[in-house]
Amino acid sequence: MESDSQEKISVEDEAVDRSEFKTCKQIAFYRRQKSLCPGKPLYRVILDTVELTNTVKFQITSGDCKAPLLVEIYEIEGNIFRLKINEITPLKPRYQVPDVLIKEPASLRLTISEKNADELVLVCASEDQQLRITVDPFEIQLISNKEVVLSINSNGLLYLEQLQPPPQIRESTLQKKKDGSVDSPKENQEDLGLWEEKFGSFLDIKANGPSSIGLDFSLYGFEHIYGIPQHAETLLLKNTSDDDVYRLYNLDVFGYQTHSKMGIYGSVPLLLAHKPDRTIGLFWLNSSETLVEIGTKAALEVLPSRTPDISKQRILPQTDVRWMSESGIIDTFILMGPSPFHTFKQYAQLTGTQALPPLFSLGYHQCRWNYEDEKDVEMVDTSFDVSNIPYDVIWLDIEHTDGKRYFTWDKKKFGNPERMQKQILMKKKRKLVVILDPHIKVDPLYTIYSQAKERGYFVKDRKGDDFEGICWPGPSCYLDFTNPEVRNWYADQFAFKTYKGSSEILFAWNDMNEPSVFKGVELTMQKDAIHHGKWEHREVHNLYGFYQQMATAEGLIRRSGGLERPFVLTRSFFAGSQKYGAVWTGDNKAEWDYLKISIPMLLTISIAGISFCGADVGGFVGDPEPELLVRWYQAGAFQPFFRGHANMHTKRREPWLFGEENTRIIREAIKERYTLLPYLYSLFYRAHTAAEPVMRPMWVEFPKCLETFGIEDEYMLGNALLVYPVTEPKVTTVNVFLPDSHEIWYEFRKFRCLKGQGLLKIPVTLNSIPVFQRGGTIIPLKTSVGKSTEWMADVPYELRVALDCKASATGELYLDDGHSFQYLHEKQFLLRKFIFHENIFSSRCADENGQFRTKCVIEQILILGMKKQPSSVTASIHDGEDKAVTFTYDAKNSVLTLQQLSLNVGIDWVLHIK
Ligand code: GLC
Repeated sequence: MESDSQEKISVEDEAVDRSEFKTCKQIAFYRRQKSLCPGKPLYRVILDTVELTNTVKFQITSGDCKAPLLVEIYEIEGNIFRLKINEITPLKPRYQVPDVLIKEPASLRLTISEKNADELVLVCASEDQQLRITVDPFEIQLISNKEVVLSINSNGLLYLEQLQPPPQIRESTLQKKKDGSVDSPKENQEDLGLWEEKFGSFLDIKANGPSSIGLDFSLYGFEHIYGIPQHAETLLLKNTSDDDVYRLYNLDVFGYQTHSKMGIYGSVPLLLAHKPDRTIGLFWLNSSETLVEIGTKAALEVLPSRTPDISKQRILPQTDVRWMSESGIIDTFILMGPSPFHTFKQYAQLTGTQALPPLFSLGYHQCRWNYEDEKDVEMVDTSFDVSNIPYDVIWLDIEHTDGKRYFTWDKKKFGNPERMQKQILMKKKRKLVVILDPHIKVDPLYTIYSQAKERGYFVKDRKGDDFEGICWPGPSCYLDFTNPEVRNWYADQFAFKTYKGSSEILFAWNDMNEPSVFKGVELTMQKDAIHHGKWEHREVHNLYGFYQQMATAEGLIRRSGGLERPFVLTRSFFAGSQKYGAVWTGDNKAEWDYLKISIPMLLTISIAGISFCGADVGGFVGDPEPELLVRWYQAGAFQPFFRGHANMHTKRREPWLFGEENTRIIREAIKERYTLLPYLYSLFYRAHTAAEPVMRPMWVEFPKCLETFGIEDEYMLGNALLVYPVTEPKVTTVNVFLPDSHEIWYEFRKFRCLKGQGLLKIPVTLNSIPVFQRGGTIIPLKTSVGKSTEWMADVPYELRVALDCKASATGELYLDDGHSFQYLHEKQFLLRKFIFHENIFSSRCADENGQFRTKCVIEQILILGMKKQPSSVTASIHDGEDKAVTFTYDAKNSVLTLQQLSLNVGIDWVLHIK
């Protein structure tokens, strides 16, 4: 059945065939919402239905013959509001997304401070916040400190199609209108796609009929809008126009177009809005196909009603955001910030934080479709050593299996996978990642298939038979990961005794899990396929990949008896996927534009909670020119997930194949990554415990600096490093924006201090990309590099101190065993805080709960921005005597280097510089 996969490649190698995917106008619920909204009766609050427990509930009606809707408003601790709108007694329950919220958020007590015929005013338990609900038409204003931050339904676009009986039944029960006519359900059906919807030769039959929902938000004073990955688009979201709206629908779009709002592999329905004094988030918890319209305009400032003096009303930017989903209920969270970091925390409070990756997975990953056989793996592995390039993981794509039967091995190519893992990789302290796609080859002799078939674990088609589609193995069935029993069974497949040829160094890659169905509608599953609980695929589509990664991560944890942290890369994702591992940006191309767009794409994914993300280094489709490959390695080295990968039709492109000079530069980039690992790992600890993104847009670190709001060609790695990837060929200078006049910036490699802020022309060579350390920060580094992360466990540290204008700096280091859950269960970790202030440099414990024994020492400290040569430096070590410290001073660059320190990272010490 290879031919199917080949066919897909050769056709698509050219470019994305846009006609395979819907435009908005080809989406029936979009057409309905667009055509039915204008002029439809507006909702109003039915005042005597207002109920107050902790939450506030009331009914709204639009005055037509439809039943009223139920509105529920919650205030959630941490400055979050939740708004739910649903039918009161729907014909059938409507889908409410399970498993994404880490727990049902507890609500605080709202109180009603005013209730009259015009409005209802709710006062919040915390802070000076109010919800003003206008009765007719129904609108909610969210007021914080007398400022109207946003309003809901102010454009009257609240939309909810109530479930109706199917046409046959309906026809008989239809009531005659006054003029004797009846609504014909068939009328306009083709156009509105109520019960059926066509796309090309595909017919979607809607068992529940139309069930679409929508709502609008107006964000006052906001014109910078971010988030809602995944699109190959700019960091700042653009204004949309009819038929060009942001689509959230997980699709396999090989070689996707750049600068497009098309839905690609993953979806996180979290939108962020930022202005200098506030960041807010809108989280639209819905897993069906979703469209987002954005419109920024200048508008008269909205003041809280009954503001006495309206003469001061100003013209301010305003952004209107309209969400539309095909199905489900309206369940939306408003994250009130006010800072970017508050907003990230609020979102993580709902959906969880980034899983702490095993340390090896922050090293460099070498992937290709495919490493041919065991010999090839050995050759590549050895060549890394010969070329003196560190790497941690080699990957096996679909060809390693027996005919694309996941959890098996091709016996000819991989006859002895245990030996390969034990004798080659384990000995070198390296790991293996293998691919496991969600489609299962239809083959009664394949145990995974036959067991799943027998137990009814596959997604069903509309008629109740197992849904069959084509994917890599040819005819395939798709595991129904929405079913907890299937996830449990799938997790068990990773047990060492079940997964023959696997070992504890084997980790997982979930691909094609949008899910991809060749020859299927938009290359995915029919929306009328049926999942566990009889839910249609349309309800859960965007969750499918999320659930596969959840089950896979659970499998890896379980096979280790709950001891070891998993590593799972997924292509498809949803809100909350951060809890299960890493994501990448799918099938990009080996072109400069794709390197360039990878930066805003990764930043957008990062601020939507998924810190562990990366793009295929080199570009997946096509052969990169050497300069592009070099630049991509340099960029990737400063991104959270760092993997080289290539399509099967490309030439081999391991780092040593492009001549000595290019190999040298790539080696330098990868080695630099390895020296940075302590910093990166510490950042991941912050992402894991405090929801701080590892890779950050400039505005996140400089929220008051307007010039940063649109920057997407540079970014911050943590709070300390500013990275400017070079994404154009043959450049000799780049324009780097260094924000904030109070900041001092130091070149990362030459330590030169940059005077002057704003847009600076920085010379570049092919050797490296511009990286700057921000004054006021301290970053931990390794002093040398080994074959892989595990070889480096005992390598001493360097601390790189970059002084700010007050000659101070702070930083931290997180350390644990790098692979197990002992940091969590046994509190075996170290969190150290470094403070440099008034020439006193101290290291102290930043979390007394943690303990971890290590031989590792801090060997060297570089202090950048040291104005004067000291006369002496002494170290006072906890419980020990004071010792003189050897140092050198570079007056030209103002760098003080302290050497031969041998300070154990776990102990407290103070250095006095006189
Ligand atoms: C998909 C993946 C790609 C992988 C290929 C074969 O195109 O995105 O990374 O190599 O399938 O498994």
